[in-house]
Amino acid sequence: MKGIFITMEGPDGSGKSTQIEMLKEFLGKKGYDTVITREPGGTRISENIRGIILNKEFTEMSDMTELLLYTAARAQLVHEVIKPALSSGKAVISDRFIDSTAVYQGIARGLGIDTVYDINAHALAGIMPDVTFHLDLPAEVGISRKKNQAELDRMELCTIDFHKKVAEGYRELARRNPDRIITIDATLPKEDICDIITKKIDELLKQD
Ligand code: TMP
Repeated sequence: MKGIFITMEGPDGSGKSTQIEMLKEFLGKKGYDTVITREPGGTRISENIRGIILNKEFTEMSDMTELLLYTAARAQLVHEVIKPALSSGKAVISDRFIDSTAVYQGIARGLGIDTVYDINAHALAGIMPDVTFHLDLPAEVGISRKKNQAELDRMELCTIDFHKKVAEGYRELARRNPDRIITIDATLPKEDICDIITKKIDELLKQD
């Protein structure tokens, strides 16, 4: 079996985790051993970096430091989890990946998408998602869903203008990568979203 790398993207509160669980079940039925991971995180080192990045006390963090920390967490995850899993023919589903950095740091923080790709070239080690699902949601809806669930972290505490740039940034990135990024209305019922995702995966598996 050939490895397949699937990423789930979208603004905070867009329902990625629910879809990831549903997709894992679907892939299991297709015979895939599936690894689920998340960014920033997914390894001992990357989870520690996550703790630094999302700590709301670190208000002094520069945008460049933020970009480098996300990238460092990714380098470890690619090296320790994603690359080995794909090489052994597993399916990998990651809750966020490089597109999050392109949107949050490149577009919303204003560092530029090219800077993000330049810095990430080393961390990615040639790995890019086979397909990416973008759960599209208005910024206000996502943040109010999060507020109801738990205490907000350093990123979620950013201004609503920042989160609007994130939501729009994802749409722009999807327009630039129509072959890889599939945009889905995240306000649809979760079963409908799951149907769209599994149909696309079925198509991809048939191509191989
Ligand atoms: P999570 O809440 O979905 O686990 O993600 C953590 C936060 O980090 C979320 O607000 C999105 C943000 N983020 C970035 O700003 N850049 C990145 O590269 C990644 C992976 C996440």
